[in-house]
Amino acid sequence: MKIRRILLALVLAVAGLAVLGGPSSAAPKHSVTYDKYSLMVDGQRLLLQSAEFHYFRLPSPDLWRDILEKEKAAGFNAVSVYFSWAFHSPAPGRYDFTGVRDVDRLLRTAEEVGLYVVARPGPYINAETSGGGFPAWLKTVPGRARSSDAGYTAAYHDWLAHINPILARHQVTRGGSVLLYNVENEYAVNTDAVYMQDLQDTARADGIDVPITTNNCCDAGSWSSTWGSGLGAVQIPGVDDYPQSFECQNADTTWGPWGAGITEKVRDDAPVFAAEYQAGAIDLNNAGYEACRNLTGVPYTKFFQKGNMVLSGATAFSYYMGFGGTNWGWLGQPNDVYTSYDYGAAITEARQLTAKYDEYKRQGYFLRAVPPLTKTDPSAAPAVTGLETAARTNPDTGTQFLLARNTSTTEVTSTLDWNGYSFPVTLPGHDAKVLVSNLDLGGQRLVASTSELYTTAFANRDIAIFYGAEGTPGATVLRYTSEPKVKVLAGTATASYRNGDLRLDYTHHGLTRVLISGGGHRPLLLMLGTDDTAASFWNVDGVLVKGTSLVRAARVDHGTVDLRADTSEAGPVEVFANARTLTVNGKPVPTRTGRNGSLEGSLPGPRGVELPALAGWKQQAEAPEARPAFDDSRWTVADKTTSLSTFAPVTLPVLFSDEYGYHAGSVWYRGRFAGTGAETTVKLNAITGKRGDYLVWLNGRYLGSAKGGVQADSDVPVNPDPGPGEFTIPAGLVKPGETAVLSVLVQNMGNNDDWTAEDSRFRQPRGLVGAAISGISEISWRIQGQARVDPVRGGLNNGGLYGERAGWSLPGYSDRGWPAAGFAAAPGVTWLRTGFSTDLPKNQDTSVALRFGGAIPAGYRVIIYLNGWNLGQYGAAIGPQTDFVLPAGLLRQNGRNTLALAVIAEQTSTVATPQLVVVGSQRGGVPVHDVPA
Ligand code: GAL
Repeated sequence: MKIRRILLALVLAVAGLAVLGGPSSAAPKHSVTYDKYSLMVDGQRLLLQSAEFHYFRLPSPDLWRDILEKEKAAGFNAVSVYFSWAFHSPAPGRYDFTGVRDVDRLLRTAEEVGLYVVARPGPYINAETSGGGFPAWLKTVPGRARSSDAGYTAAYHDWLAHINPILARHQVTRGGSVLLYNVENEYAVNTDAVYMQDLQDTARADGIDVPITTNNCCDAGSWSSTWGSGLGAVQIPGVDDYPQSFECQNADTTWGPWGAGITEKVRDDAPVFAAEYQAGAIDLNNAGYEACRNLTGVPYTKFFQKGNMVLSGATAFSYYMGFGGTNWGWLGQPNDVYTSYDYGAAITEARQLTAKYDEYKRQGYFLRAVPPLTKTDPSAAPAVTGLETAARTNPDTGTQFLLARNTSTTEVTSTLDWNGYSFPVTLPGHDAKVLVSNLDLGGQRLVASTSELYTTAFANRDIAIFYGAEGTPGATVLRYTSEPKVKVLAGTATASYRNGDLRLDYTHHGLTRVLISGGGHRPLLLMLGTDDTAASFWNVDGVLVKGTSLVRAARVDHGTVDLRADTSEAGPVEVFANARTLTVNGKPVPTRTGRNGSLEGSLPGPRGVELPALAGWKQQAEAPEARPAFDDSRWTVADKTTSLSTFAPVTLPVLFSDEYGYHAGSVWYRGRFAGTGAETTVKLNAITGKRGDYLVWLNGRYLGSAKGGVQADSDVPVNPDPGPGEFTIPAGLVKPGETAVLSVLVQNMGNNDDWTAEDSRFRQPRGLVGAAISGISEISWRIQGQARVDPVRGGLNNGGLYGERAGWSLPGYSDRGWPAAGFAAAPGVTWLRTGFSTDLPKNQDTSVALRFGGAIPAGYRVIIYLNGWNLGQYGAAIGPQTDFVLPAGLLRQNGRNTLALAVIAEQTSTVATPQLVVVGSQRGGVPVHDVPA
């Protein structure tokens, strides 16, 4: 690995091409410094290109490599990672960093893949995770969260004492990948500087020595040395920007309602850091993530991100999200998200690459090809009629970066007078370009181009690829000491030479290939493409490849180039490398050498995949808790009269589930009272967070259901009647003098975040918050939630359904005695189970989902367990989602799988069952082992 990198570096150094790569696994210690322009590693300027990735949303550690390799293949040199306290700590003092929580492994994988890491351990992370990453048990710890209060301080010190040493040993300064350390998250609302300072002092004491950053939202100037007293100031303040909003339903008409998306400069002595730059959206209004992908699609990505590159001068970017993943189990915060956290990102939840990915690749490769962009100052830009222009110039090299944006929605054709030339330019509506002049390109000198630079490479000759929108004019000017020979190998271009400058004029169409030799420079293969033809090239590990659906890694060894690559269909491949033979995924590929000096061959696509039909369902109803005779003597007595929540219970005792140690999913309550026979109504209140509900039985008779309450951010005054439900008691159901039993099943949907650092919002209770029966003054309560923390899947996987407590969701449970399913569900809880065997093709990445057809049911909700893993919830009350991704590893690709559905019905329903579908298949992929179940 190390030798390969040194060789690669030597080849590139000889070629005069700069590559700003990520870390090397065998790398020694490095220094990380910065100045007002950029970060530097060992004194070399770095353009940080990062994509946000949440390992906790992809519970199959082998697939972490898949995502990281996909990010790297798009040109990213870093990932930004939140570390979720809640994900690792099911109870005070209990921490788990094994299996799907093995973050050491995550950081090792990043090192192996060659990506830097922006480590974001919170303690508060937001991220639409339950509690914003705060474990639910923190609700019962005194002391205001996100402050310097003692109780909270002790709690987060324990978290940092666990996570910091792991991050510290993976720092770039110790040969690892962690380049920046991010404290807190958008902590602009609260201003507890002592807390902000302590987070940093603690990190330093724990051995963190890379620069410390924070991501600001609202007051971008926060936590800079010149802000407030200076206490709590970080070294590199970052700024979050979401210019396009989260209104995915308005994707077609929305254009920057939340600002221009130009990252503010906060400190004079630190680089501009776009800590979270919008790259997708949460689906606030249930429009579906394809709408979110449109809202933040290719035009947005071009216009805003390229604009920001030049207008802000930022040299560190992190795009939120690169890959969103899944809110499996009870990981999600209920108010803003449902199971899928696809986010409309460039890589889908099913790990598929989209057209947006191509745009990130175009920009990522460009950034990698232009080291002078790491040090620029604003400069005068030529005016272009009809277009917005702005420029920055590197003071040392004179390289200029010219932004040309079309702020209108219609195509603009105009003229650019630049560097002594007059160029025709055409820009489609809302398109943007960053053009470059005065750049050394390997052994070449670029004077100017109206095409955008895509990438450069060296394989026996210099190679440079430029591109522009299909059908628009392009011109590229290169400098020579004498007139070079120009040979158009493919496509059309006209050449003219004057005073040392070679000018090529052409129309962007397909792929024009021009070989330029002589003229005092090394030969140059210049390729002039379109958005699409440019993006058909991969430049990975210094090897340029046209074709395949993904190049993960490349290696040249003794005249052989070996690619690790995926193909989603059979097709040609062309490889530019100093090699005579080609192997792909270890297999030799016959090739011929083409006119371009490249190796040309063809590759097979994926094999066909057959998935079994889901059949043989068995069914069993549960909810014995509803029956009066059910033995609840081992349940927890609920008799508290106080809580730390600022929410005052509607009635006493306090029934908030967290108070009794039940922090995730469903909770059962049983209340006993001495009946009089005169009772007429049960009046309940429950707070579940959005999308929750509760079901009520009295003496075994189902009384009905109601929606759980949602307290808003700053409900002042607090809603005195949240999640109300009033149920009529049928005459004769309660007998005078006999004990009656009220049973309530509450679907808690996870905890609110604490975005505004208000504490009350995050401490908002879950479960019953009020219970009154007409004419009854005393009810004695017991409560039951999750029985134990699943040792593999963790504390957020299960709630307290009877079936969950009895193991019905687990693959090892024997349902032999269950009858064949009739698919009729009575109000309450009904389970369906089936098994299936899959035998997916080896060395192929097949992404499988569970798909529900027909209309999304309103009368019931379904919790989906694959081999015991809670992979989501389906139902009209939950959201628009009908496909549930079954990640490889949790899905045993070559083996037996168990699927269990817990159907929670509010009314008698006929349950529709799902089918398995293929949502993507590529030959290649990464090896994926079964995750223990
Ligand atoms: C930001 C926050 C992220 C995430 C994002 C929206 O404000 O820092 O954690 O919540 O909004 O998806």
